[in-house]
Amino acid sequence: MHLAVFEDTPLTDLNTLRLPARAKRYAEIHSAEQLLKLVRRGDLDGHRVVVLGGGSNVVLRGDLDAFVLHIRIPGHALVSELDDAWIVRAGAGVSWHEFVRFTLDQGWPGLENLSLIPGTVGAAPIQNIGAYGVELSERFFALEAVDLRSGQIVSLDKKICQFAYRDSLFKQQAAGRFIITAVSFRLPKQWYAVTDYADVANELKLHGLSEPTAMEVSDAIVNIRRRKLPDPALLPNVGSFFKNPVVSAERFAELTVTWPKLPHHPQNDGSIKLAAGWLIEQAGWRGRNIGPVGMYEKQALVLVNHGGATGEDVLRLADNVCAAVLEKFGVALEQEPVLL
Ligand code: EPU
Repeated sequence: MHLAVFEDTPLTDLNTLRLPARAKRYAEIHSAEQLLKLVRRGDLDGHRVVVLGGGSNVVLRGDLDAFVLHIRIPGHALVSELDDAWIVRAGAGVSWHEFVRFTLDQGWPGLENLSLIPGTVGAAPIQNIGAYGVELSERFFALEAVDLRSGQIVSLDKKICQFAYRDSLFKQQAAGRFIITAVSFRLPKQWYAVTDYADVANELKLHGLSEPTAMEVSDAIVNIRRRKLPDPALLPNVGSFFKNPVVSAERFAELTVTWPKLPHHPQNDGSIKLAAGWLIEQAGWRGRNIGPVGMYEKQALVLVNHGGATGEDVLRLADNVCAAVLEKFGVALEQEPVLL
């Protein structure tokens, strides 16, 4: 596809919070080669470069004095079949959920718990997407990216990517350095359903599924998400707006004296992950609005745009929610989506 560069381009339809912002320069990227061409002929030199995939994990504060690259690289294929796994690769622009369903249709299980997460394949490693007991890092094999520093295509393995809870190299020291063009996954042949989450177990039970297939787990998760989380196409949002905060075991013990019902998940390192949605609800912000934005009535961790909001509206609400949780629980919330 032809490479076209545009000036002063609106981004409202390209971010799922539907925040109004314009890009100084904008191009759609349909292949890694196209991206390399742009980099090597120096088109990006002197510009701040901002990469957009599905726009489902960004908050646009306002107009971007930047060169915005909308990654639309298509394609997915089996790369190799090993004794114990299938290695499957997808272009960074492929819709995440469509890719999950493609793998399941082929009989390659492993991504079912991550069904219906909005966004693209290329964005998924950046925040190490996770849901219902599975994180992308557990299924990740490697990714390909253009290194803006060297102008080369590089392949990065799992260790280099430094995955952590909703975090990776790409949100930390290498932020802005790599543009992901394709991701490959290691989907296990020795598969078992991950159904520890109460919501998942209940949904499967409701359908009489004691030994569900990967596709049945996917269907169950689609049902749960449709019930709980707002569809960005109908009520603009970016999923969880804050990370679930992690506190020490000592701090958790102190908190449970006052809040014995505090939902929590012990972590492998002995720390405790708290439910930000519960903290926000208890602090009085579930279903509460400031102007055109609010915390979703069915899931207080999701910030929604009821219509016409700006980035400033979003940040004002986020500040108020953080302050209320800090005041009530002494726990600091950290924003999850990337602020642009
Ligand atoms: N809760 C409340 N009130 C609320 C929301 C939640 O009391 O308004 C309580 C729930 O009752 C439950 C606990 O908080 O006891 C946890 O809630 P839930 O199971 O809905 O999950 P979550 O911790 O709020 C996380 C992820 C989601 C992921 C789900 C399922 C983060 C930041 N969020 O949400 O991911 O889908 O678990 O695994 O880790 C996302 O990252 O955008 C996202 C949607």
